Amino acid sequence: MKQLLGVVSPGTRVLDAGCGPGRFAIAMLRAGAHVTLADISSTQLDITREKISEARLLDRVEGFHRINITNLTGFGEEFDIVVCYGGALSYVRDRHRAAITELVRVTKPGGSVIASVMSLYGMLKLIGILDVASFLVDMESHWELENIPNGTGYALTRSGSDEFHVPFALFSAKHLADTFEEAGCGVVTLASANPLSAGGMEMQRISANAGAASRLLDLELALCDRPEYVDSGEHLIIVAQKR
Ligand SMILES: C[S@@+](CC[C@H](N)C(=O)[O-])C[C@H]1O[C@@H](n2cnc3c(N)ncnc32)[C@H](O)[C@@H]1O
Repeated sequence: MKQLLGVVSPGTRVLDAGCGPGRFAIAMLRAGAHVTLADISSTQLDITREKISEARLLDRVEGFHRINITNLTGFGEEFDIVVCYGGALSYVRDRHRAAITELVRVTKPGGSVIASVMSLYGMLKLIGILDVASFLVDMESHWELENIPNGTGYALTRSGSDEFHVPFALFSAKHLADTFEEAGCGVVTLASANPLSAGGMEMQRISANAGAASRLLDLELALCDRPEYVDSGEHLIIVAQKR
């Protein structure tokens, strides 16, 4: 978030695609950006409108749009920054190339796209921590496993799996970076969210100890964009600059 706000200055035009309840939008509006809010869910758009109104920041909002990130018809090459954080690119599954192409298309040359997706190898690592032999035995009914070992770079969870709330795609860092490159960007930063911590860790005990929590955070920040760690967290974060 700090890095994101570092590139926002008064008047910066931002598209928050898959904005959800607007946590990034509100921070960017406070920093002086002019923000367009976009989401596939009208409920999320209503919530974000309410929160932005409560924060008295509606005057810098350029619009609320119900959209699918795979089709941004109506927008031109107009935004300094396009944010797509929190998984919308994972939820469009094998339409993610189309979505990335659209996010890049509406970004001005030299502008940035900042996105996060679910991490393939980071999530696979959780299986050992969280579970349970039964998931491994029955894994084929939850994941399309065929893409995992062959290096395709992304894998899909199965529609109808009772293990995952909605079907989504998981990405390797290389596939994410390659797809942004193919769409006309240079990769500025590729990082992992929570490279060291993971579900199943003793997080409550760590959080209860201020020194331990701050040491863990320092280590996470220091290591998150190291190539050795990029694929190890549950989410991947990319900052890409349009050529
Ligand atoms: C986990 S929330 C993240 C919200 C926000 N960006 C954040 O990081 O706090 C994912 C959001 O993506 C939206 N979304 C999912 N698929 C989408 C799509 N195809 N097009 C646009 N938005 C989508 C959902 O409605 C939801 O609001």
